[in-house]
Amino acid sequence: MTENSLRALEWLIEAGANEAVGEVPVDRFGLAGAQAADSPPPVIAARAPAPPVTGPKPQARPDPRPASPAADATTLDELRQILLAFDGCPLKRTATNTVFADGNPAARVMLIGEAPGAEEDRQGKPFVGASGQLLDRMLATIDLDRSQVFISNVIYWRPPGNRDPSPSEVAACLPFAERMIELIDPRVLVLLGGAALKALLGRAEGITRLRGQWLSFTTARRAYPIDTMATFHPAFLLRTPGQKRLAWRDLLAIKKRLAAAGP
Ligand code: URA
Repeated sequence: MTENSLRALEWLIEAGANEAVGEVPVDRFGLAGAQAADSPPPVIAARAPAPPVTGPKPQARPDPRPASPAADATTLDELRQILLAFDGCPLKRTATNTVFADGNPAARVMLIGEAPGAEEDRQGKPFVGASGQLLDRMLATIDLDRSQVFISNVIYWRPPGNRDPSPSEVAACLPFAERMIELIDPRVLVLLGGAALKALLGRAEGITRLRGQWLSFTTARRAYPIDTMATFHPAFLLRTPGQKRLAWRDLLAIKKRLAAAGP
């Protein structure tokens, strides 16, 4: 067993997944007499793939907000250069580094957190502190590592003392996050925590209400939405380990959606 799978197993056990049970309850007393009570439940045929979408091609809608320099980027590298030259967010003045992104730009999964913490600020990379280590273990439970995902944040500079970013700081950074998602064009977008959910989907309901549901992300430039799931932020799970059970359920749903989405 590799180091990663061992750590993933530890995470599962901590999350309460210490028995090999299925998602759907099985009435074993009600099973036909010929079937022993402890024999496996009948195999249910996989659902047929959804038929191809027909009809008129969805149109991108105009964006009413003032233009941001982020919109000019045609590659990820250009976006990084534009962000490094951008002075529209005051958090940049107190931060040590700009924390742009990490992982594989060709990934099918993109994860977005809130803002860099102290360790991320020091290293200039997202999710490298304690919550990043938990995130790596969470990803390992669905057989993913950083070479198979792309990770960034809504905010690119550490807020002093890890305070919550203000609405105007979020508004200044948001066009960069949106352009980054457009450029990566993932199959599945994962929003880590309520701040990313609120910033990118503008939903008033909190993370507890919306986590685990399939939502859609789109921008003015995109004709098609991206399958999006919000789940608990790893920092919250470190403080509230009892909720890992629900995060694990979300991860399984993400794994399933990725398998169904094809390459
Ligand atoms: N928390 C976040 O939301 N992002 C990071 O990069 C680190 C911690």
